[in-house]
Amino acid sequence: MKLPAIAPDRLPALLAAMPKAELHMHIEGSLEPEMIFALAERNGVALPYASIEELRHAYAFTDLQSFLDIYYAGASVLLKEEDFYDLAQAYLARAATENVVHAEIFFDPQTHTARGVGVDTVIRGLSRACADARAQGTSAELILCFLRHLSEREAFETLEAALPFRDHFIGVGLDSSEVGHPPDKFARVFARCRELGFHIVAHAGEEGPPAYIWQALDVLKAERIDHGVQAVHDAALMQRLAAERVPLTVCPLSNQKLRVFPDLAQHNLKRLLDAGLCATVNSDDPAYFGGHINANFQQVFAATGMTAEQAWQLAANSFEASFAPAADQARWLARLQTTFERFAAPAEI
Ligand code: ADE
Ligand code: ZN
Repeated sequence: MKLPAIAPDRLPALLAAMPKAELHMHIEGSLEPEMIFALAERNGVALPYASIEELRHAYAFTDLQSFLDIYYAGASVLLKEEDFYDLAQAYLARAATENVVHAEIFFDPQTHTARGVGVDTVIRGLSRACADARAQGTSAELILCFLRHLSEREAFETLEAALPFRDHFIGVGLDSSEVGHPPDKFARVFARCRELGFHIVAHAGEEGPPAYIWQALDVLKAERIDHGVQAVHDAALMQRLAAERVPLTVCPLSNQKLRVFPDLAQHNLKRLLDAGLCATVNSDDPAYFGGHINANFQQVFAATGMTAEQAWQLAANSFEASFAPAADQARWLARLQTTFERFAAPAEI
């Protein structure tokens, strides 16, 4: 496809306006401090923070685990179906304003079942918000994630409990503390999930080594790798990811806040694209990392000097990497073309 030339000063507005798919967003990570306090009050949950400001102040992370400790504590205010509905509804409304046309949303049932909340409560609330978003023109699906710091047995129990609601989620993933919990710990769980016909994704190579990405591909048969930025340390892996167009769902602000890179200017997103990988941009946990998907685009582009051509590639990759039907992908790609043409036109006076 021939790309219209875009003036560099129009790039930030183009990044915001272009249609895109979000493929790596933990719904619990969209819980803003304001909502944590509102839900704590609604549900009578005591918080170890006196104010919204004090809570926000605690968001100073040094690595993945330091974030996860606060993230799981924040999720403790989610108790009722309505809470899960409100959370997902708020995210999807925000995503629509950022021109997200399709979202595949992660949720962590074990974070909630450990507190006595039923899987049915979680899934019913989230699923209803997705249905409402679809009715308003945003495509939305759910992906159930297993917490990798817990056991294989607990993952199997979670799967069993969720199966009565299997029509409400399209895939399964693997998240939480990466180092020390390699993908092959869950080989049998994912084999069962594949038999059941679920799409497979897995966090790998966020902080963990390239070997975890190989395992996610070869053992779990992951169709996408979440993060995957450590792949650059293994040339053979990079070749495989490029040759097979295995998508990476990259989250620049997350990587910055969790110190995967010393700063955004040193992020390797451009290098991944240059190597021919199907990289995408996503927000991971927007309430904790300082921005939703468009902030991720804006800030990584500003820091690394990427161009409109790369913006096009990332948006097109997001459709290709999605589990949406080919006809929807083609429709979104056509909208991408129209948006670029609109931005190529001289600015109206
Ligand atoms: N759960 C929420 N965000 C995560 C991340 N960045 N890595 C692993 N697990 C997560
Ligand atoms: Zn994640």
